[in-house]
Amino acid sequence: MKGFILAGGRATRLQPLTLVTNKHLLPVYDRPMIYYPLQSMAKAGVTEVLLSSSPDHAGQFASLLKDGEEFGLRLYYTVQSKPGGIADAISLAEDFAQNDTLLVLLGDGIFNYSLKEDVKKFDENKKGAMIFGMQMEEGFEQYGIIEMKQNNEVVSIEEKPQHPKSHIVQTGIYIYDRTVFHKIKSLNPSERGELEVTDLNTMYIRDGQMTCSMLDWWIDAGTSHDELLRANTLVADKVKHAALR
Ligand code: DAU
Repeated sequence: MKGFILAGGRATRLQPLTLVTNKHLLPVYDRPMIYYPLQSMAKAGVTEVLLSSSPDHAGQFASLLKDGEEFGLRLYYTVQSKPGGIADAISLAEDFAQNDTLLVLLGDGIFNYSLKEDVKKFDENKKGAMIFGMQMEEGFEQYGIIEMKQNNEVVSIEEKPQHPKSHIVQTGIYIYDRTVFHKIKSLNPSERGELEVTDLNTMYIRDGQMTCSMLDWWIDAGTSHDELLRANTLVADKVKHAALR
């Protein structure tokens, strides 16, 4: 399996912090935000990783992360010329992935779960897609909402719905088979002009080919100033108690 990390986008919700600085370079406790998804990749045993960012910031990532050796990774870089959506960014990994399966992590997601077993299991038959959800008691309306059966098959995902069908949010962790790039080519831009990851995932759901595993702890550090502050506090606590490395 190959890895892909997204570190582009506009990050308007975090302005003015992000007017000149890429969101994923902002500090979360004692390291830049981007370190966490890189550590998660290494923990998952996925060592060849492509990182996409915006034209203005790509050089800063290369200066900071170099060839990825510090993380035990082989790191490659690409540029998303415009923030055309998460699925648009994933399409940049086509040549890199060749015929391999792909683990995609959003660059602003922090979690301490090891994906190693899921990656191994998925690669036994390399078919379909897998997402990771988390039960949230409040604030769930600002995420993709997952509806699933008892056997973990996903029934629907709705992006930031007004009337959520569950409290299970779609975290920014996705595993795809090699059909993902073909599927992205058939997507149309949404009303906000982006190729949406939820539309991509819906294609797998329609084929009955998407399952969901649940996480106990995950935080999206990029949704607001308050969430960034909360991420700093929670992560500091986890790092000090060795529950996050
Ligand atoms: O965090 C989980 C949520 O992420 C999911 O629940 C939603 O279903 C999913 O759509 C996404 O929602 P967000 O509103 O949080 O997406 P955001 O615009 O913050 O982008 C997520 C990450 O992807 C962030 O690290 C920036 C990066 N990105 C985003 C876009 C739109 C890119 O690299 N390129 C892009 O064009």
